[in-house]
Amino acid sequence: MTTVIDSEAADHTAEADAATWWRQAAVYQIYPRSFADANGDGIGDLQGIISRVPYLKGLGVDAVWLSPFYPSALADGGYDVDDYRDVDPKIGTLDDFDEMVAALHAADIKLIVDIVPNHSSNRHVWFQQALAAGKGSPERDRYIFRDGLGENGELPPSDWTSMFGGPAWTQVADGQWYLHLFASEQPDFNWDNREVRDDFLTTLRFWCDRGVDGFRVDVAHGCAKKLDDVLPTQAELDEISTTDGNHPIWDRNEVHEIYTEWRQVLNEYDPPRIAVAEAWVASAERRARYASPNELGQAFNFDLLEADFDPEQFREIVSTNLDEAKIAGSSTTWVFSNHDVVRHATRYGLAPLNGRKVKQGREWLLSGGTLPLDVETGLRRARAASLFMLGLPGSAYLYQGEELGLGEVADIPADEHQDPAYFRNPGVDPGRDGCRVPLPWTRDGESFGFGSGGAHLPQPSWFGDRSVEAEDSDPDSTLNLYRRALALREELQAAESLEWVDSPENVLHFRRPNGWEVVTNFSTGPVELPAGRVLISSGPVGDTLPGETTVWLRS
Ligand code: GLC
Ligand code: CA
Repeated sequence: MTTVIDSEAADHTAEADAATWWRQAAVYQIYPRSFADANGDGIGDLQGIISRVPYLKGLGVDAVWLSPFYPSALADGGYDVDDYRDVDPKIGTLDDFDEMVAALHAADIKLIVDIVPNHSSNRHVWFQQALAAGKGSPERDRYIFRDGLGENGELPPSDWTSMFGGPAWTQVADGQWYLHLFASEQPDFNWDNREVRDDFLTTLRFWCDRGVDGFRVDVAHGCAKKLDDVLPTQAELDEISTTDGNHPIWDRNEVHEIYTEWRQVLNEYDPPRIAVAEAWVASAERRARYASPNELGQAFNFDLLEADFDPEQFREIVSTNLDEAKIAGSSTTWVFSNHDVVRHATRYGLAPLNGRKVKQGREWLLSGGTLPLDVETGLRRARAASLFMLGLPGSAYLYQGEELGLGEVADIPADEHQDPAYFRNPGVDPGRDGCRVPLPWTRDGESFGFGSGGAHLPQPSWFGDRSVEAEDSDPDSTLNLYRRALALREELQAAESLEWVDSPENVLHFRRPNGWEVVTNFSTGPVELPAGRVLISSGPVGDTLPGETTVWLRS
């Protein structure tokens, strides 16, 4: 079967490049509080990022996606924003931000910032005003307030549970309730309110004017809501289809009015600013709407992240997403790890459980890391999978630390957790702190070089062996694999298409239009190595292609 995409990316004029850089970019996600701590208070900061720009340059990424850096009480790792047009004083200032943009741009690295439109924090000035102004006020209309049920409104307007467990409604002093799909510190905005819409347009312009190249849009599929007077129960809500745009909360058709307006603002800039949607929707067709050039332009697909290390699943996912991106007029996106999921080097090392090969990361975390984990296998597969992904057409989104082959941390003591998902759903949701542990930069020493004042989440002793220092000089390290792969990717990059080449069972083999070939052996035993010059491999290669290994070839 052949998947061919005719692409504007083949048009290599400077102007086209400036506007289409994102189509096949390697984007590195920084979770700022866990990346590098310059002032030694245990929390990563913007100066820490600035100090590591040479590292990012050496790694060879095209862009950084910066998770929220806004003022926040960190009720949800910064996804509870107090002020959309400022920097958290705990991690920097607007001047630091400008300096960071300049340093990244000087290194030819673009910057995408996270924007969180579904909800603010409960400390946002608008929410404070809403509380003070009272029932029926215009201030309250910026959020979703309702009277309660029961004789005296003492019951919540519905029995809905939040995404982090626990009730989705919280009562305020005068008796009304507000909706929060996430933590109670994250009140949902009312996107029917024109002021809310305008304020976000102001925020977009604010950061575009400061030089950002684009936005990652948090929970993009949740903003538009239609809540009737009588609300469905949670059980009824769960039964409502999300395929036709009429679900009361998720992926409503009207949500696209919002992003059509955003696109007009993003297009005021030259080159137009980009945006990528975090949209968990029912189908490829629904996702394509967010990725349309008239809207955000790109959308994450989490299919590889959710797949087992399995050739059939991988092949199907790749073909479907390439076709889908073509329909959307976008390029596709690939992700194995981010700040919300168990790192893939760990997922791939877990023994099959309940018939699933690698999706049992949560169970493993809940076991405190005592379920069997084969670290070597996990790393071998992660390297093979990542090299497979970096050869694919489209954008590759990388999460800080995956270039070190870093694994998930399972043994965070109960009282040191930070994630609301962990606390709101005790014993059921292990939370996401295990992938947010501050990065190891040095083999040993204070917080493995993260900073001079400890780390805000405890680092395990094995972090030293996965540090930048330990891997820097080892030619076979994961870090050097990523560096070489990213440099080659830049050199080899071709039009956004691939052709599958016939291959033995358990092997995937594709060819890009310029003769760049990628072969992954998913089985554990060796297979014949196809003809061609080996450019790079995820593990040692001899006359054959060993198990769980990827090679790039040039005929
Ligand atoms: C997104 C973020 C996640 C956050 C949630 C609520 O899914 O990736 O980290 O908790 O939105 O903002
Ligand atoms: Ca700091």
